[in-house]
Amino acid sequence: MKTSPKSPLTISILIICIYFSQLQFLAQNTEQSSSTIAIKIENTLKKLTLKEKVALCHAQSKFSTKGVERLGIPEIWMADGPHGVRAEISWDDWSYAGWTNDSITAFPALTCLAATFNPKLSSQFGFSLGEEARYRKKDVLLGPGVNIYRTPLNGRNFEYMGEDPFLASTMVVPYIKGVQKNGVAACVKHYALNNQELWRDKVNVEVSDRALHEIYLPAFKAAVTKANVWALMGAYNKFRGQYATHHELLTKKILKEDWKYDGVVISDWSSAHSTIASAMFGLDIEMGTGTDGLGTSTSNHYDHYYLATSFLKKLKSGEIPLAILDDKVRRILRLRFRTNMSNNRPLGRANNKEHHDVARKVAAEGIVLLKNENNFFPIKDDKNLIIAVIGENATRSMTAGGGSSELKPQFEISPLQGIRARYKNATIIHSMGFASGPSVYDKVIPSKLNADSLRVAAIQTAKKADIVLFVGGLSKSHLQDCEGDDRKQFGLPFGQETLINDIVAVNQNVGFVLVTGNAVAMPWLKKVKGVIQTWYLGSMAGHAIADVISGAVNPSGKLPFTFPIKLEDNAAHSFGEISYPGIDMTQQYKEDILVGYRWHDTKEIKPLYAFGYGLSYTSFKVSNIEIDKKTYTKEASINVSCTVKNIGNIDGAEVIQIYIGKSKSKVKRALKELKGFQKVKLKSGEKSNINIEIPVNSLAFYDETISDWNLEKGDYIIYVGNAANNIFKKKTFSVK
Ligand code: BGC
Repeated sequence: MKTSPKSPLTISILIICIYFSQLQFLAQNTEQSSSTIAIKIENTLKKLTLKEKVALCHAQSKFSTKGVERLGIPEIWMADGPHGVRAEISWDDWSYAGWTNDSITAFPALTCLAATFNPKLSSQFGFSLGEEARYRKKDVLLGPGVNIYRTPLNGRNFEYMGEDPFLASTMVVPYIKGVQKNGVAACVKHYALNNQELWRDKVNVEVSDRALHEIYLPAFKAAVTKANVWALMGAYNKFRGQYATHHELLTKKILKEDWKYDGVVISDWSSAHSTIASAMFGLDIEMGTGTDGLGTSTSNHYDHYYLATSFLKKLKSGEIPLAILDDKVRRILRLRFRTNMSNNRPLGRANNKEHHDVARKVAAEGIVLLKNENNFFPIKDDKNLIIAVIGENATRSMTAGGGSSELKPQFEISPLQGIRARYKNATIIHSMGFASGPSVYDKVIPSKLNADSLRVAAIQTAKKADIVLFVGGLSKSHLQDCEGDDRKQFGLPFGQETLINDIVAVNQNVGFVLVTGNAVAMPWLKKVKGVIQTWYLGSMAGHAIADVISGAVNPSGKLPFTFPIKLEDNAAHSFGEISYPGIDMTQQYKEDILVGYRWHDTKEIKPLYAFGYGLSYTSFKVSNIEIDKKTYTKEASINVSCTVKNIGNIDGAEVIQIYIGKSKSKVKRALKELKGFQKVKLKSGEKSNINIEIPVNSLAFYDETISDWNLEKGDYIIYVGNAANNIFKKKTFSVK
């Protein structure tokens, strides 16, 4: 049959019609989805037996829960974690299942993401990670973690987003939205107050309502109310004597009633402790309680969970009302309709170039230049140059170890590999320098080398070089940056402090590439010419580090937490044992709201490196700093404007930070608190006018006398700077 050729106009009209009809379809579909999901939930609920409903509320294996086959309801599959999808774990124990198709892209750990101060990158990070989770057929991704950085000893800080609730809240929202675009639930964790690993499963935290609401909860609240997170994980610790995972105030009241959370609460792996508390105080899915399968009993071990047989019995006897169960099941079904029972979820992808690019971009943007004497960095490639790369962190895998966030990347570029790939002309020589030894996770240790011979070899290597890059820091081994325990010392381990002294004695041109997820003591700081803080950067680590060292990327990362000079300068530590780690399993957060820079600022304790600090290879001039009014109403927003100019000769980025304080207040206040920030990318010589909006109601404090937020009238001070301790201008305004 002959068809008449269509004119270009007809084709265009056709395309436009199709486009609009699709838009309409999409709009109807999304509209439908929230209302139809509610109907579907009610219909499904009616079809489930009591036993089937209970079975939805607890694990059937280490990382999955049962479906209901006869109704076509699939199982739920979960996986760690915050910066990459973990390898498959066995059905009943923690060993790896040994699959050959479960390697992934390792993204940088979340301290690095926070250090980018770039919410757009956080969105790309979340989206790419969600794609990998989807590809691996996961319905729930067990991350991100947003516990506040309270002490540099916390073994798990590297997984979190720093010490400031505003920064963590701003960065976590796009991450979650990005993950969930893939039809995979993000699971924000660990709710709440899991701020140390030592004794995490039993320590009882005592903290004021004010610090709870102003410091420790905001990032969770943002995850729930702004990102609409679909899952949340309870913490191991206790708060005011009750376990956090099923807590009358935390989970039942604040999370589910006040914030109107409609997602599921999942326990941490074995953080549930009672049937009644789990049932009544908001736990929906119990995971990890003694998951040794049939190992300790003859019946199915999962039936012994608090939310299994004992729950069923109490429901049957009427001790627990059926409505309690139905609320949990509605949430669990909602999770399914949002994920594995959603009609239009994409298929996901893993290990593709785009994900590697995102990993590298986040890594390079998160690296923080701390010190740069006489422009030590960037180091230009030159055939006459000999660079010695010394230190175990130059070659040790940093995706292995660390606990549940351990990854099995398809590849991981070490700093040494990255530097070798980047420097084509210079001669790169290498020496291990020190060895941290095997850990529970990583069995690699050089067999014939002892600490002394490693040290001697390193000194010889340093002597031969023009420049030494000392790649040291912490590792992901137990008692380092690792889950399950805290660090025992603030200084660098494995003789690194002595080794640095020995190296500097033979070569004064030393730059320190610091690989940690935590602040460390730096008694050696004056002796080295440059320091870059690189965090744990995942698959593209070495390339990103070489990007910054060589100047291919101009550093723009800013510290998401304070580096104190000594441990006692940190707020939690300044109060002694009762505050950290606690006495008789109870700890009091004596510093209250004065966490991190809030403490240093208010008590005038000089940090080694302040929150928000980070150098660049170029310089910026910030001028015309203005606020739009002198007086604001409670409903208004403050518009802060300024001009930022890149006055150096290379392109770069600066982070303008807005802090606000109130000197006269009826309550104790921090000198200032971060309330807004913006990262500006500028070419050499370029300038840009920026505007940052701050809602006046974000200046409210949590008033314990009314158990609510209270916005005080009167004068406030606004501080505009590029670090907590580098303020360009202060201005006063008032709220009426
Ligand atoms: C960790 C969680 C993790 C879970 C499952 C727990 O030990 O605290 O963060 O998601 O294990 O691996």
